[in-house]
Amino acid sequence: MLEPTELLAELVAFFQPKLLHGGADDLLSLMCLARPIDKCPLLLAPAMNREMWAHPATQRNAAQLRADGCTLLGPANGDQACGEIGDGRMLEAVELLDELIAFFRPKSLLGKSVLITAGPTFEPLDPVRGLTNRSSGKMGFAIARAAAEAGATVTVVAGPVHLPTPRGVRRIDVNTAQQMFDAVLPEAAAHDVFIATAAVADWRPVNIASNKIKKQAGKALPVIELVENRDILAAVSQLDKRPYCVGFAAESTDLLKHAREKLVRKGVPLIVGNLGPATFGADDNTLTLVDAAGHRELPRADKLTLARQLVAEIATRITPSTT
Ligand code: CTP
Repeated sequence: MLEPTELLAELVAFFQPKLLHGGADDLLSLMCLARPIDKCPLLLAPAMNREMWAHPATQRNAAQLRADGCTLLGPANGDQACGEIGDGRMLEAVELLDELIAFFRPKSLLGKSVLITAGPTFEPLDPVRGLTNRSSGKMGFAIARAAAEAGATVTVVAGPVHLPTPRGVRRIDVNTAQQMFDAVLPEAAAHDVFIATAAVADWRPVNIASNKIKKQAGKALPVIELVENRDILAAVSQLDKRPYCVGFAAESTDLLKHAREKLVRKGVPLIVGNLGPATFGADDNTLTLVDAAGHRELPRADKLTLARQLVAEIATRITPSTT
């Protein structure tokens, strides 16, 4: 692999038709042409009016630049300087930075597809209340980002969380455990990897009141009867054509013992354990990877760093060693 120091990434904030024709009458276009094309990637961030972007001439140029090995970042859709709204808007600076970081990450999952569940589920009791938990979805979304950076096609099935979708990731929003099950099962067999980070509610109310349950003076407290939700991870791991399955175990005590039990009970090759109360909503975490052979700790780090380590670990497990 090339060292980042060997590479020069030219980020051009405007489209360069000149590049297309090999023009080199200014310093920037000269640098774009006079570079070792195999060692020095060229990334372009188009920014223009929506009609201009949609014009066949521009689209021809974009296609040719891609064919010449350039990478186009964006454009985005939204408000434009001219007052119009549409495709052609330059990505935000922070989005460009994320794209650049992703570009230089090792592509350990190139050509692979990854399905991830993330966040909590919400099991309604009545139109205003429900059963849920404190999962923020941050770990699942960090894994989605890390897998996309590693070159995978990524789908995240997300419970109710307020997190932006990582760029390039397909997102399916759900609320209940049943909806998560229904979204995941038809997709799972078509994926290479399934990572179940969601804190799926174990039970749901048998009956959902159609109106808000009211307090009634002198009357007995409402009794909530529960029924168990289906286990999404266990169901995926029993498919004939199953992806490589990774489960999470968020525990409050005896992490290793519970993680090992789940490895067997869910029939999966890898469980990632963490102490739930300490991590819910936090930006960092400590993970313990548990498999049939033993366990290994990924020391405390921010969730994106851990997610990248986990993705690298999964990549080595699903890619046959060449040595
Ligand atoms: N999981 C799932 N579907 C469920 C319950 C759990 O897919 N209905 C997945 C979680 O996403 C996680 C793993 O199973 O990857 C373990 O979840 P956890 O809630 O820790 O375990 P449970 O099986 O629910 O057991 P318990 O609540 O008793 O710890």
